[in-house]
Amino acid sequence: MLIKRRFLKEMQCGRFDVEMASQGSKSRAPRNRTISIDAADADHYRRYLEDTKNCRVIEGDAFEELPKLPIGRFDLLFADPPYNLTKSFGKEKFAQTSDEAYVAWLDSWVSLCVPLLKETASVYICGDWRSGAAIQRVGSIYFKLRNRITWEREKGRGATANWKNAAEDIWFFTVSDDFTFNLDAVKQRRRVIAPYRENGKPKDWDEAGKFRDTHPSNLWTDISVPFWSMPENTDHPTQKPEKLLAKIILASTNAGDLILDPFAGSGTTAVVAKKLGRKFVAIESDEQYCLLAAKRLEMAETDKSIQGLADGVFWERNSKKLATDKLR
Ligand SMILES: C[S@@+](CC[C@H](N)C(=O)[O-])C[C@H]1O[C@@H](n2cnc3c(N)ncnc32)[C@H](O)[C@@H]1O
Repeated sequence: MLIKRRFLKEMQCGRFDVEMASQGSKSRAPRNRTISIDAADADHYRRYLEDTKNCRVIEGDAFEELPKLPIGRFDLLFADPPYNLTKSFGKEKFAQTSDEAYVAWLDSWVSLCVPLLKETASVYICGDWRSGAAIQRVGSIYFKLRNRITWEREKGRGATANWKNAAEDIWFFTVSDDFTFNLDAVKQRRRVIAPYRENGKPKDWDEAGKFRDTHPSNLWTDISVPFWSMPENTDHPTQKPEKLLAKIILASTNAGDLILDPFAGSGTTAVVAKKLGRKFVAIESDEQYCLLAAKRLEMAETDKSIQGLADGVFWERNSKKLATDKLR
């Protein structure tokens, strides 16, 4: 366990307290909407986190907090753990390790989550191409493997002697064969390219808006990483987009269900859960990220919008306006 903990410490991404502390005075472009915490906000959001009625973001180490959670109560586990990468955040360096050590580390927290899940629960674990094999291996010990979603995240550093990495994988498992999948909630609305008709009537498409609701695939090319002009953006270095969480939460849970995120970061899972009327427990070891999550949760009390999800529909990029114009 000690080795696992030490490894974890090296792996932990995101200690950028120094940057965070100075954010209040950081000058940003006028259209930059990045959410930040300044010294005056911090106490307010610390108190907000203590109020468990508002949110259950637990500041702590997942290895210590998971065993305290209730058994068999969670409907969804979404985990976006540190990947097996060497990464620097401010002064901190995070070291890539061997595949075997990463497998052992994954197993050490996945095994703590297993008893917390309902028989009908779903599990999503994020990784890049290097950690994917380990995630598949460990997840398959405890769960039924259903799919691997590949998210084209567009942004990525160009390599000189390799292919630029612009994708992440999200491995989808379920505890049993009895699980929730709300297909209609995650269909993608696309412009009609092949307007087939049957007996003169449109086949599966809407004549007025010229769109079709299509089955969502495991290749997600319509979600950008949060960037500075988006209202959801924070300075967390690996923040997931709200739209990505919205697809997963809408597909795999129902209103009122309980969601677990053991590596909460800036709180994206918690925020989207709240916006969509689900309950959540999110664990994050870094206080500054917990405060960002608290601020986002407070914002979500008045603003439930999720970029890319409009009128309860995931629209193909740039197609909502076209469809709406046709309806005018
Ligand atoms: C990949 S980031 C998650 C980002 C998150 N999905 C978001 O949208 O902001 C992983 C997070 O796990 C946290 N973390 C690492 N080890 C942890 C541990 N043992 N317990 C709790 N949190 C941990 C890191 O501080 C980091 O914020």
